[in-house]
Amino acid sequence: MRTLDDLIKHGVQGRRVLVRSDLNVPLKDGKVTDDGRIRASLPVLTKLLDHGARVIVTAHLGRPKGAPDPQYSLRPVADRLAQLLGRPVEFALDTVGESARLLANELKDGELLLLENVRFNAGETSKDEGERAEFARCLALLTGGEDEGGAYVDDAFGAVHRKHASVYDIATLLPHYCGDLVRDEVRVLEQLVGEPARPYVVVLGGSKVSDKLAVIDNLLPKVDRLLVGGGMCFTFLAAQGHEVGDSLLETDQVENCRRLLAEAGDKIVLPTDIVVSAEFSADAATQTVAADAIPAGQKGLDIGPRSVEAFAAALADAQTVFWNGPMGVFELAPFAAGTKGVAEAVTAAPGLSVVGGGDSAAAVRALGLDVTAFGHISTGGGASLEYLEGKELPGVAVLEQV
Ligand code: 3PG
Repeated sequence: MRTLDDLIKHGVQGRRVLVRSDLNVPLKDGKVTDDGRIRASLPVLTKLLDHGARVIVTAHLGRPKGAPDPQYSLRPVADRLAQLLGRPVEFALDTVGESARLLANELKDGELLLLENVRFNAGETSKDEGERAEFARCLALLTGGEDEGGAYVDDAFGAVHRKHASVYDIATLLPHYCGDLVRDEVRVLEQLVGEPARPYVVVLGGSKVSDKLAVIDNLLPKVDRLLVGGGMCFTFLAAQGHEVGDSLLETDQVENCRRLLAEAGDKIVLPTDIVVSAEFSADAATQTVAADAIPAGQKGLDIGPRSVEAFAAALADAQTVFWNGPMGVFELAPFAAGTKGVAEAVTAAPGLSVVGGGDSAAAVRALGLDVTAFGHISTGGGASLEYLEGKELPGVAVLEQV
C-alpha cells in the first residue's frame, strides 16, 4: 500500500491532491459539539499543506438523501477546521459543480479547499456502479487528473467500510495513497485480531445486541473475558431466564444470546445490578436493583455500582482491551456512572486500551475523561466493528491495489 510519505517523497508542490477525510461530527445550533474527528484529520492536511500541495478535501456529514439539504451542510465544519488548522479554508458551495471547479482551479500552493457534503450527490452512495463511477470521475477531474499531477489520499478511516464513490471508486481513477490516520487505525486493529497480549478483555455496550452479534461471534474464540453492559445486556439477561421489566429487549435475539452464553462458558460477564427508572429523563427517580429481578414497569438504564466493580476487577490485569459502546444512557446524569466507571477501569488496565469510535469515543469526551489515558481512540465506530467482525473494508482493500 502506498502511503502519504511515498506521495510526499515524489513531491506534491503545486499538485492538486484530493483528500477524503471523515468530518462527520455532531452539530448543535450550527456549531460543532465534538471536534474529535476534525482534530484527527489535521496531521495529514497539515503535512500536505506544509509541502506545498493544493489540497481539496471531500467529506460527508450525516445521511442526506443524495440532494442538497442545508441541515447537513459542512459549512460549520469548514469554520472549525480553519480555527484548528490556523489557516484559511476555502469552502465550495457544491461538490463537483461550478463553485467546486472554480475554487479548485484557483487554489495556490499550500492552500486548502473543503467541498460541500459529498452525499449531496446521489452518485456518492449509489448501488449502481456506473453512477458511482461517473461521480468519482467528476471528483477526480477537480485535481486535473493523473496527467496533471492529481492524486488521491484516503484518510477517512470512519468511512472505509463504505463502498462509496469518494472512498472506493475514486481510488481506481487516481494514483492513491493511504493517509496516516487510516494506517494508524488499521495497525491498532490488527493487534486486536492477530496475537493480542493476554489477558485480552473486550467490553461491549450500546443499545442493540443485533449490531454486535457478528463481532461477538468473531471475537469470542480470541478473548479471555467479554464484559457486556448497556442496553444489549438485557437480551442476555432474558436469555438466562430473568425478567427485564420494560428494559430494551430484542426478543428475536434471545436464542442467539442463549447460544453465545452456552459457547462462552464463563468468558461472558454480565452485570449483577442495574440502575432502573420508570422514566427516561435527566431528573428521573432511580433505584438500583439486582439484575435478575428488574421490577415490572421499570427500565434498566445503566449498570449498577457492583457491576462496575466486577468489570473493573476483570479489567485490572488486562494486557489488551477493546471497548465499544456505553454501559448506560450516559447523556443523562443519573445514568452516566456505569460508563464513567468502566471507562476509568479501561484506562487503569496495564496494557493497550482501544476505544471503538462512535458513541464510546463521544462518551469519553462528553464525560470529561482524559483522552490521553487511552492507548487509542478510534475515529470509526462502524469501520472498526466491521474490521473486528473479520469483514473486508472496501476503502482499505482498494488502497492495496497498486
Ligand atoms: C460514522 O459516523 O461512523 C462514519 O462517518 C460513517 O458514517 P455512515 O455510517 O453514515 O456511513
